[in-house]
Amino acid sequence: MGVLKIISFALLLFQAIHAGNDCPSQLCGDNPFVVRFPFLLEGQQLQNCGYPGFDLSCTSQKPQVVVLNLPNSGDFWVRNINYFMQEIQLYDPNGCLPRRLLSLNLSSSPFMAGYSQNFTFLSCPTDSVRTRLAIINCLSNSTVSVLATSSMNLARAMNMCSIINTLPIPVLWPQDDDWLSSNLDEDLLLTWNVPSCGGCEARGGVCGFENSTTDQILCFSNRESVKAGPLVLLIVAIALAAPAATCSIGLIFYLCMESRRPRRESSNRAAQNSTIEAAQPGTSPAAGLDDSSIETYRKIVLGESRRLPGPNGVTCPICLADYHPNDTIRCIPECEHCFHSDCIDEWLRMQNTCPVCRNSPSPNRDNT
Ligand SMILES: *[C@@H]1O[C@H](CO)[C@@H](O)[C@H](O)[C@H]1NC(C)=O
Ligand SMILES: *[C@@H]1O[C@H](CO)[C@@H](O)[C@H](O)[C@H]1NC(C)=O
Ligand SMILES: *[C@@H]1O[C@H](CO)[C@@H](O)[C@H](O)[C@H]1NC(C)=O
Ligand SMILES: *[C@@H]1O[C@H](CO)[C@@H](O)[C@H](O)[C@H]1NC(C)=O
Repeated sequence: MGVLKIISFALLLFQAIHAGNDCPSQLCGDNPFVVRFPFLLEGQQLQNCGYPGFDLSCTSQKPQVVVLNLPNSGDFWVRNINYFMQEIQLYDPNGCLPRRLLSLNLSSSPFMAGYSQNFTFLSCPTDSVRTRLAIINCLSNSTVSVLATSSMNLARAMNMCSIINTLPIPVLWPQDDDWLSSNLDEDLLLTWNVPSCGGCEARGGVCGFENSTTDQILCFSNRESVKAGPLVLLIVAIALAAPAATCSIGLIFYLCMESRRPRRESSNRAAQNSTIEAAQPGTSPAAGLDDSSIETYRKIVLGESRRLPGPNGVTCPICLADYHPNDTIRCIPECEHCFHSDCIDEWLRMQNTCPVCRNSPSPNRDNT
């Protein structure tokens, strides 16, 4: 099944790309990114060059900026657009993103958060806030300090503060350190699912409407895009390498299990003095981890955008099935490689290495 999936993905790469499309890319001032389908630069492109809800404008005064108006949430300035990943990076014209996050409502826009995490905004007397907590300066003054935390425990413990609101905030990466507050000063990264043009972009194409009277979307060739060549080659290489890698993982796994059998007894003795997290005292310190160690590795439930943190693709490298919204994945802390948690848990019980990079996730690895 996995091989079929890869073959069909490889075929997808070579699907016809249609020639011609009357919607040239546009630039706005010195901004480093182009504006093209599904986005539309108002006044500079034909109306059917953009998808509904993706209208942008280019300010006339210098330095020119690209502006996205989100219904109910107002204007944001655009730092960048990643057409392949289907991501748009936004910031606040007034340099106070937390203020905008407090009133962000994405429900009538095509955009959504890759991840969101509940944050509680607290308003505290300035002289009571300990210095290790990050303060949102643009919402604070000499008497009142505002901070945001993802920890309900911290919010409750700060009883000298009043709670402004608890609401889901789009974050780049779920915060592990539950006890610290955040000043939420990173850009706002939003994603979109529809129209889905990442695959077309990967093949060096650009999506567009078939013609001005239909909402049918086609993948057009993009003559400006010379840079797409290496990307396509890379994806083909990955598509070809993946089955080989999968086979070799299986083979190596099998060979390791076989060849370790006689050696395990001797390495057990060598390892006896060092604590092996994975093994209970008295039991055989096998190469795998126990469930409580596995449980310490971060688990994430995927959102609608199915965006994974770190260097991860759209397919679980162990079972070769694509990730879906609400899938539970688990990531290995050192290398940030992620997998379906069912798949990796099974693997880690037998083997304390990352199936992708072969690094050991355990600090107390068996060095023999
Ligand atoms: C967001 O806006 C919609 C209307 O567009 C409204 O129905 C909804 O209640 C708002 N959500 C929040 C959390 O304010
Ligand atoms: C965030 O809070 C809402 C309502 O308070 C809750 O339904 C939701 O499960 C929370 N999400 C997370 C990820 O904790
Ligand atoms: C600080 O901000 C709070 C609320 O935002 C306001 O009530 C207070 O008057 C402000 N204090 C000063 C000194 O500006
Ligand atoms: C637009 O595309 C639709 C669907 O393919 C087709 O039926 C229609 O004739 C086209 N219209 C024009 C003006 O080319």
